[in-house]
Amino acid sequence: MTIQIAPSILSADFCNLQRDIQAIDHADMVHVDVMDHHFVPNLTLGEPIVKRICEVSELPVDVHLMIEDPDRWAPEYAKLGAASVSFHMGAVHAPVRLARQLHEMGCKACLAVRPAEPVEPIFDILDEFDMILVMTVEPGFGGQKFLDNQMPKVRRLRDEITRRGLKTHIEVDGGVSSKTAHIVAEAGADVLVAGSAVYGASDRDQAIDDIRTQAQAAYRD
Ligand code: DX5
Ligand code: ZN
Repeated sequence: MTIQIAPSILSADFCNLQRDIQAIDHADMVHVDVMDHHFVPNLTLGEPIVKRICEVSELPVDVHLMIEDPDRWAPEYAKLGAASVSFHMGAVHAPVRLARQLHEMGCKACLAVRPAEPVEPIFDILDEFDMILVMTVEPGFGGQKFLDNQMPKVRRLRDEITRRGLKTHIEVDGGVSSKTAHIVAEAGADVLVAGSAVYGASDRDQAIDDIRTQAQAAYRD
């Protein structure tokens, strides 16, 4: 499996988003965190800004919705040009219907789980998703400490995906850096989101390369 790196622009300079998106050309996608002050205690950005990001980004745009009522809003982000849209298990009402709707629009569908949410309840609908996002911090803010207690969950999920011969990606988000990349990759994650570890570095592409090198060396096929 090839490791993919998705820098989160939550730690970028919101007054210089185009510049900061162009500073990550070693990345595989750009991760955009949409928060609504309700599902999480933070407010970031919404459709008008995601629209412009999709227009200027040469990388696929990976939208992470931390909002209530994703059944209503996720298709709007697909319409704007997102390559993938993640919505949370704790917020969605009809995950299968929403995943199928996104697919019809040519957009990848991803189901996200918070640290206290188990993955076993989604095993029966796993093949509906391109990717499962395992949060490795409580969602809402960048720069939090990595929760290594989420690794057994990543491992169980990878084992289930392998057992069934699925192609589902596992994305991890929160506290991922060149120091924790080997831990998530060894557990079976192949898409690594990193916000502060990339945008806190003076050379963003070097930071991406470092995370990728550590993860690729540790990934178990
Ligand atoms: C947190 C967001 C993350 C955040 C990660 O709720 O979903 O994408 O930007 O930031 P770091 O990498 O700094 O933990
Ligand atoms: Zn995120």
